[in-house]
Amino acid sequence: MSPSAATAPIPTTTTTSTVDYPPSSPRPPALTVRQLSKYYGPILGCRDVEFEVAPGEALGIIGESGSGKSTAMRCIAGDHDATSGRITMGTVGDGHTDILTMSPSDRRALRVKDIAVVYQDPSEGLDLGVSAGGNIADRLTAAGWRNFGRIRERAAELLERTEVPLDRMDDPVRTFSGGMRQRVQLAKALANRPPLLLLDEPTTGLDASVAAGVLDLIRDLLEETGVGAVVVSHDFKVIEMLTRRCLVMHQGHVVEQGLTDQLLEDPQHPYSQRLVGAARG
Ligand SMILES: Nc1ncnc2c1ncn2[C@@H]1O[C@H](COP(=O)(O)OP(=O)(O)O)[C@@H](O)[C@H]1O
Ligand SMILES: [Mg+2]
Repeated sequence: MSPSAATAPIPTTTTTSTVDYPPSSPRPPALTVRQLSKYYGPILGCRDVEFEVAPGEALGIIGESGSGKSTAMRCIAGDHDATSGRITMGTVGDGHTDILTMSPSDRRALRVKDIAVVYQDPSEGLDLGVSAGGNIADRLTAAGWRNFGRIRERAAELLERTEVPLDRMDDPVRTFSGGMRQRVQLAKALANRPPLLLLDEPTTGLDASVAAGVLDLIRDLLEETGVGAVVVSHDFKVIEMLTRRCLVMHQGHVVEQGLTDQLLEDPQHPYSQRLVGAARG
């Protein structure tokens, strides 16, 4: 794509433009993203992406491959440096610290304590040469846990919850199946109860029956833990199952946002209509 095509404005359709907070709620959003743009040299990753995630809310981001979903997510996670924009988390200090301008050490601390990521490729979220228990222990240790017995107890509890057989706890993750690796990623991500979980195509690449089991688990965990989440997927089935509200991205831009069921029923933007049409077969 040429840079000029990449920067051409795309009209935005807003079905529901803002998060619906009860007027009495004093809680700030778990995550606020404003005018987030990322260029890879001349290549557009994403441009002027804006959204909020309420505490405990799961927000979906849907779009075809190359639409900028992972770019936006990776800028929030700190895997990529954004070109411009502002990202704040309600949980940080005064609640208004822009995480894009934090010092590298504050950023690392945030990534361990407040933001966890589950990637499509488990080798990005896990050390495949280390055991399942060891991977979880790494996160807990980074988050400040020091008692070996308590770390092991917590790791076992998480593996049990994510249905990883406990007799595999000390086996290297590289000996695990794809579905099991995603379960370990989830266990590790949630180990120290971060307020925000980012999931980038968490079931893409898994066999359908395995993916269905992992999706069920994700849905249950989101509900149980009350963690705020951003769920990135090209698959409307995933977004439909896990989120109440979602954004549609196309060529780096958010072209529509609204309630997921409403967007699936009555998409407004031609691109969303095409996506929904394809999903409905
Ligand atoms: N590391 C990178 N270097 C250069 N271009 C990239 C890189 N990552 C993504 N892109 C480009 O940014 C655009 C958005 O990609 P991406 O965010 O991965 O989309 P999605 O996750 O929706 O598939 C694409 O044009 C892609 O080729
Ligand atoms: Mg992607």
